[in-house]
Amino acid sequence: VRVYVPRDTTALSLGADDVAERLTREAADRGLALSLVRNGSRGLAWLEPLVEVETDNGRVAYGPVAPGDVPALLDAGLLEGHDGHPLSLGPTEAIPYLERQQRLTFARIGVTDPLCLDDYRAHDGFRGLERALDLAAQDIVEEVKASGLRGRGGAAFPTGIKWQTVLDAPADQKYIVCNADEGDSGTFADRLAMECDPYMLIEGMTIAGLGVGATQGYIYLRSEYPLAHEVLETAIARAEAAGYLGDDIRGSGRTFHLEVRLGAGAYICGEETSLLESLEGKRGLVRFKPPLPAIEGLFGRPTVVNNVLSLAAVPFILAEGGQAYADHGMGRSRGTLALQLAGNVKRGGLVELAFGTTLRTLMEEFGGGTLTGRPLRAVQVGGPLCAYLPESQWDLPLDYEAFAGVGAGVGHGGVVMFDDTVDMAEQARFSMEFCKVESCGKCTPCRIGSTRGVEVIDRIRAGENREANLALLGELCETMEDGSLCAMGGMTPFPVQSALTHFPDDFRRPADGD
Ligand code: NAI
Ligand code: SF4
Repeated sequence: VRVYVPRDTTALSLGADDVAERLTREAADRGLALSLVRNGSRGLAWLEPLVEVETDNGRVAYGPVAPGDVPALLDAGLLEGHDGHPLSLGPTEAIPYLERQQRLTFARIGVTDPLCLDDYRAHDGFRGLERALDLAAQDIVEEVKASGLRGRGGAAFPTGIKWQTVLDAPADQKYIVCNADEGDSGTFADRLAMECDPYMLIEGMTIAGLGVGATQGYIYLRSEYPLAHEVLETAIARAEAAGYLGDDIRGSGRTFHLEVRLGAGAYICGEETSLLESLEGKRGLVRFKPPLPAIEGLFGRPTVVNNVLSLAAVPFILAEGGQAYADHGMGRSRGTLALQLAGNVKRGGLVELAFGTTLRTLMEEFGGGTLTGRPLRAVQVGGPLCAYLPESQWDLPLDYEAFAGVGAGVGHGGVVMFDDTVDMAEQARFSMEFCKVESCGKCTPCRIGSTRGVEVIDRIRAGENREANLALLGELCETMEDGSLCAMGGMTPFPVQSALTHFPDDFRRPADGD
């Protein structure tokens, strides 16, 4: 009997190794045959460790399983897929949280053994690359343009146009750089993609290399993801050995080499130009743009810098055609978005849906409301540089333009929920403090402004000259927004201003001692 126990960071941190060990031991003690597969996670974080068993009618799930549950689960017929135990969830694919998703990019996570090449191939893996090897570079770029894919790191720039710029730039050497410095609060989709389906990223980067004429790729990975590092290194070695990477890919005469480089824990190294500085071995200081990295990027050469999820969407686009991807979504937001439910949420996890769904659907129907059971009050979508949204905005369709229209952002798809005990003035302070800690220091509005911002918010919260300081905070936000060199200082005002606009009473609470 084939039994699946995930081995991604979420499941491991919740004891998946102990569950796997206990299952193997108990089955052996009972003389039961069991073949253990360490799959990736399905992204249903609240059910981890999610144990699955293969039956004649497909896989059935149990979760969240603790090691101590194993004997009772075996007694209740786990290996036969029986559903008599309270942890039984029935057929995995019929779990509503999963069934209601549109998984294009994350179709394989949790399904396959992440490092098994045969498993990857058996689930549509390398179909996109095989097709790309027969196409001219321009035709690959056209397919990506037709998909309507926009940068999933947060800025939503059209990926096909970025690739066209690099393809058109004459150079002796070009690069593909994958931004895997996933730093936004509440986000984990890049990690899931890398840990649970690493060949997808390798395939996407190789296709990008063929599309723009780059022969070398780098994955810039945050050092906080040691398991993703281990998985990627193994996957790259296996892909090379099987001829999917390196010189003469699958006998085509085409070349693409790929290496992983580790960051050192700076949020600003997720900004593309400081990432390039860091890759070159320098301190992660933001560069002036122009020149764009697409023209003068790594080591001064034309470089595609794409987020993990942008590159991970490419194998599907090449395998199924750009139109198949563009058939999903709304307006100019085509395809699917990987939303990550986090914060004070009952059912946290990954929800891949076509653009157009609402935050309310996401937070209530998928998320099940808050973990504390208290009313939801605010939600921050898109990371620490994006706005807090009050209930009046929860019915907006999730679409880049609709969100931009209310001064909010979709960003990298992180959705951090807060209940009614949240103090939004404290959250505004946190935004400024985050900027103060993470600023690269190159420009004054961000470096000095964020420090002053923390001080002004402290004075407001302490009730000192409140109205004058509120006006000062508004002016400071304007200066940071208009005068900062990059999104770090330029966008930090968004969460602060949204807190001021939508939750003004939190800034006017009686101070301690009043
Ligand atoms: P940007 O708008 O300056 O650039 C977007 C991308 O398009 C860049 O790669 C840029 O080089 C490229 N580009 C622009 N014009 C081009 C052209 N004509 N031809 C070719 N390429 C062109 O935005 P930026 O500063 O790169 O990113 C800001 C975003 O990053 C924010 O919206 C924020 O949501 C997001 N972010 C994401 C984080 C994460 O962990 N994923 C962390 C922090 C911020
Ligand atoms: Fe550096 Fe901040 Fe200026 Fe960006 S805005 S260049 S992080 S100092």
